[in-house]
Amino acid sequence: MSLKKLAKIDQTNLFHPITNLKSHAEDEDILILDKGEGVYVYDTNGKKYLEGLAGLWCTSLGYGVQELADAASEQMAKLGYASLFTSKSHEPAIRLAEKLIDMSPYNNGKVFFGNSGSDANDTQLKIFTYYNNALGNTKKKKIISRLKGYHGVTVASASMTGLPAQHKLFDLPAEGFSHIDTPHYYHGAKDNESESEFVQRLANNLDSLIYKEGSENIAAMIAEPLMGAGGVIIPPKDYFPAIQSVLDKYSIPLIDDEVVCAFGRTGNVWGAETFDMKPSSITIAKALSSGYLPISAVIIPDEIYEPVRDASGDIGIFGHGYTYSGHPVACAVAIKTLEIYERDNIFQHAASMGDYFQTRVNKLNSFDSVGEARGVGLICGIELVSNKTTKKGFDPMGSAGRVVAKACQDEGLIVRAIGDVLAMCPPLIITKKEIDEMFDMFEIALTKAEEVIL
Ligand SMILES: Cc1ncc(COP(=O)(O)O)c(C=O)c1O
Repeated sequence: MSLKKLAKIDQTNLFHPITNLKSHAEDEDILILDKGEGVYVYDTNGKKYLEGLAGLWCTSLGYGVQELADAASEQMAKLGYASLFTSKSHEPAIRLAEKLIDMSPYNNGKVFFGNSGSDANDTQLKIFTYYNNALGNTKKKKIISRLKGYHGVTVASASMTGLPAQHKLFDLPAEGFSHIDTPHYYHGAKDNESESEFVQRLANNLDSLIYKEGSENIAAMIAEPLMGAGGVIIPPKDYFPAIQSVLDKYSIPLIDDEVVCAFGRTGNVWGAETFDMKPSSITIAKALSSGYLPISAVIIPDEIYEPVRDASGDIGIFGHGYTYSGHPVACAVAIKTLEIYERDNIFQHAASMGDYFQTRVNKLNSFDSVGEARGVGLICGIELVSNKTTKKGFDPMGSAGRVVAKACQDEGLIVRAIGDVLAMCPPLIITKKEIDEMFDMFEIALTKAEEVIL
């Protein structure tokens, strides 16, 4: 079917997630993808693009991986569905859970499967609620998260998210969610404040918030190692140790949302390793299956699991779970994904490519419109400003980001504009030559776009 015809049917019938619905209805240039191979995708006209965002920060092994397709098809033919409810089980979920505990920072623990990062973060909240109630800590219900943090879009996970678009007109955040500072030195630091003074101020603010809310009322803090959807914000080196010491003082757990960072993105298996976090529990999704099938997981140590297990025995059931928790086909694809990571040394490859990637990121700081080009491993955010000295953004916010993203697309590069930050996060299999191709296209697009935006 022609691109034009497909676009018309799309506009007539599809309700798009996370989209400007008004401009979409009038968009005459909708990108409709058709197929993919390696780090490239092709639209229905056959135009080739380098997928600079790995889909949505997820297709770590790139496109067209036959082994993943085979794993899915074999499992589908063998046992296309089975549930984990009421003590039933199946081998793909059993093997995947064992592997994840093995890879986790915990000696012993349990894995709860879901379908998305959002539902997994809901699960986190529900596990901590159940746990605290089971222990008689019935007031411990509040969650602390951060402005610009992204944890999903369900009612609970959107309440954790600290972005206006996930709250406005949705009557969110719900009660019981507090948002604290974004650890972004570039914008957040006061005049002449050093990075360590900035970090200490943020830690003090967290301490004050906990004191004000009452530590006996706080269930947990949730944080991404780096903020992805909030604009690829990299915390200062000492940020998490400083935050951790405040949390430790009040015995408040830290939920580590690794939905973007896990599995090699930041140069280590876990984002927590890169940023020195001490996770009390972990959320994963996306690269768990290289984005090929929807699957997420919450990983908790046994010390959190045990009171939950015992209380469920008294109630008769742990009353939370999804029809597709531990879907056998998704688990089979995830097992194969983890096998490929190990067999092909993907994490080591990503770490060494990440070093090179960051040299190209740094070079972008020389552009007149770039206020801060930042990143770690194979992820970056290029923040555009109208004035480098004052760090002033664009009016309206996002207008420059849109122009640059479109210019990139014209060049054959897919990036994501988050306001005026251009996010890039290519598949982990990317080679040095492809990194050069990617940044060469980005530089050409930015040069052209600067004629319009500056
Ligand atoms: C850190 C983080 N947590 C949670 C989510 C929500 O995941 P999902 O879109 O699968 O619900 C995302 C999605 O991008 C994310 O980046």
